[in-house]
Amino acid sequence: MPLFSKVDKLETANYMGRIGQPVYRPNTSGAPEKHIPNVSVNGNDVEISANHVMTEEHYIQFMWLKDTKTNEVVLAKELTPLEDKAVLKAKVPNGVTLTPYLFCNLHGLWIGEPFTVA
Ligand SMILES: [Fe+2]
Repeated sequence: MPLFSKVDKLETANYMGRIGQPVYRPNTSGAPEKHIPNVSVNGNDVEISANHVMTEEHYIQFMWLKDTKTNEVVLAKELTPLEDKAVLKAKVPNGVTLTPYLFCNLHGLWIGEPFTVA
């Protein structure tokens, strides 16, 4: 399955990748300070990150950005526990408003605040 479709489905999936796992509403399971995507904008360079561990048992599996107006996924990254930090970097044109998303293997879907690159 293409990565963009995969992350889109994570938003509406009725299981957490394992059959029988309960559904968690976005931003409700786990510590907010470890899961809310942090946004840093420097000119047209955008960096999305999370202060989250990256271990075999517990890690950020996916990070992605959606165009807030069209609701389309514009960039997505699949991560592995081998990466030392959960980071997604992007070059974003002026005037575009994006919403950051991430998916933790234990704590599900987290959605950050929309931001605009000016
Ligand atoms: Fe987590």
